[in-house]
Amino acid sequence: MDDMLNTQGHVRLGSSAGQPLTRRDGILKVTGAAPYAADARPEGVLHAVTLAAGIARGRVARLNTAAAEAHPGVVKVYTPANVPALALSPDEKIHPFVWRMEVLQDDRVRYAGQPIAMVVAETLEAATEAARLLAPDYEAEPHRVTLDDAEPFDTETLAFGRPANMTKGDLATARATSSRHVTTQVETSAQYHNAMEPHAITAQWVGDRLEIDTPNQAIGLSKQTFAAFLGIAPEQILLRSPFIGGGFGSKAILYGAQLLTILAARDLDRPVKMALRRDQVYGPTGHRAPTRQTLRIDMDDMGRITALDHDTITLTSSFDEFLESASNASHSLYAAPVLRTTHHGRRADVGTPGPMRAPGEAPGSAALEIAMDEAARAAGLDPLDFRLLNHADTDPSSGMSFSSKALRECYAEAAGRFGWAGRPQEPRQMREGRLLKGWGMGTAQFPCPMFQAAAHATLRADGSAVVETSAADMGQGAWTALAQIAADGLGIDIDRVEFRSGHSDLPDAGVAGGSGHTATAGTALFNAGSDAVRQLADLATQDPASPLFGAGNAGVTARSGRLWRNDDDRSEAYEDILARAGLDLIRGEGTGAREGEPTHAMFSHGAVFAEVLVDPDLGQVRVSRLIGAFAAGRIINPALARSQLLGGMIWGIGMALQEEALHDIRTGRFVNNDLAGYHVPVNADAPMVEAITVHEDDPFVNALGIKGVGEIGVTGTVGAIGNAVWHATGVRPGRFPIHPETLI
Ligand code: MOS
Repeated sequence: MDDMLNTQGHVRLGSSAGQPLTRRDGILKVTGAAPYAADARPEGVLHAVTLAAGIARGRVARLNTAAAEAHPGVVKVYTPANVPALALSPDEKIHPFVWRMEVLQDDRVRYAGQPIAMVVAETLEAATEAARLLAPDYEAEPHRVTLDDAEPFDTETLAFGRPANMTKGDLATARATSSRHVTTQVETSAQYHNAMEPHAITAQWVGDRLEIDTPNQAIGLSKQTFAAFLGIAPEQILLRSPFIGGGFGSKAILYGAQLLTILAARDLDRPVKMALRRDQVYGPTGHRAPTRQTLRIDMDDMGRITALDHDTITLTSSFDEFLESASNASHSLYAAPVLRTTHHGRRADVGTPGPMRAPGEAPGSAALEIAMDEAARAAGLDPLDFRLLNHADTDPSSGMSFSSKALRECYAEAAGRFGWAGRPQEPRQMREGRLLKGWGMGTAQFPCPMFQAAAHATLRADGSAVVETSAADMGQGAWTALAQIAADGLGIDIDRVEFRSGHSDLPDAGVAGGSGHTATAGTALFNAGSDAVRQLADLATQDPASPLFGAGNAGVTARSGRLWRNDDDRSEAYEDILARAGLDLIRGEGTGAREGEPTHAMFSHGAVFAEVLVDPDLGQVRVSRLIGAFAAGRIINPALARSQLLGGMIWGIGMALQEEALHDIRTGRFVNNDLAGYHVPVNADAPMVEAITVHEDDPFVNALGIKGVGEIGVTGTVGAIGNAVWHATGVRPGRFPIHPETLI
């Protein structure tokens, strides 16, 4: 493990990590000085507006291109008849993060909202008006947009190539010999990312070099993907993504309108900007598909789970596959000596779904936690006692991570803070005025993947440093947390660290996704810093003029911009070592990735407790208290981590009570593709939310002990709210978001 960190006795994690520093880019953001992609205004920029299909299935029979072209200010109208070709077919799967894109390759309409033409004009207004003038005629075909009318198909794989089905043990025998059985069905709804910053791109060709400003969660990977589809070398592309106004997974993947904009910029030899309107984001940029989940839990007389069977039916598009791995939420959270998880795909005339904050885990956890409460009730046990009885560490075959002890602490912390102990077991026992009050809980869990990252760390003559990696900050505070880790790798104060990031000419920081960005890019930065310090230490310990001379065996420690002997109290400043060696700088390099096959299951954990107030006449649900305790390894920045956890939990309120994209089943179009109709929680919906972190040292997850906090908050929370609603009303929610009319 030391090898992986290049520490060689020279450095250790110092004082920056662990501090609740405010965001380094906070002032830029709150003053509006932080540039987003659509803020780019290169000289002579043109504006592109796509026309979105108004039917869900069929073909475009006619477009009034003449009318659009005649509109003042219009430069060019792109349709399948004249769109420049890509170097690769848009169906090509060059890596697992590519889904089929609409680049006007034919006249087919595969979903409502699909781009079917693009107008480029001198002004946004002209492009918008001309797109309207295209007035398409369609040959519509019958469409399918819901789980019920979608077409079943066989699949072996889920999102990211995970296997669709898994079985452990003999289900039939377990079922026959168990004394208690519970079957639960829960549906979750389609959700769209609705980042504050809608998707945008500004593209400019400078000679044969392409410069693009576009928010992106996977800068290095996306550069490769753009290059492949454009038929140019990756080095010809500069992708800038200094600030991302929220991504949630939707900005980790490419979509067709980005490529169209780039093609237009090349075709017209002028910069082109394309910024999707809120409604245009619905369809081509991914979404969370709806699920219908059925869980069967078998138990013995004591209430111990003997078998867990979790099936998911979910939707994908008619032309590509991304299936929510919801049933996999049952893989390792509870002890289930016999386990079966299955998934069934259906095709509908919708855009291809994609990763959305806790893909698979969010809907899967929602259903699993409802099922756990039903099972607890059947066993006659308090929901918390039932979970403790069936804690995964009671069954070694469950593959529980090293941190099962930490999860027990999460339960205790959050339950204590919430005051769970006094909870009546029967529903409808508590009131606040005329409102019904209920308490519920859910367990949170999220895996700890790592990707591949690289970084540079350069110590300068004055003892300051510049660190470089292409890390994406989508609002989570990566630029601050990663700089904290870099400072510790270098053994200097964070104020002396210049953090260069957010564009593709820098070493690849990997994907800001999967809750693995801090661990992955952080490890690369730490290693780069350690590499620089090691070179510095070699210089000093071999230089007779240094007070560190001869300390090579005992080693030295880097701290506060100085190297300190481990064998006595002498030290020397970085700038002095560099000056005497006649060097302006020392550059270290580092990578971050998981080394070898994991020896332990690796997860962050948590426990969430919810209190709801339900209006008995109107069925309206309010979350009055939400308390979560999370164990997520080493917390690099407690303020930012708390913020991430709160954000995830508040997303859970939305998923439980509000968020739902609805199609008009007659037209297949969305009826609520705006923030007036698509409800997300506001402050008033989340009056009291508390996130606590529980100390956890996990020596297996990675050398720095870092887990993720970005996605776990939504897990556990949805189920906790659903269970609290049952406790208030006696009605077990069968669907999220919970509709008021189902409670009265
Ligand atoms: Mo995410 S869905 O890992 O950006």
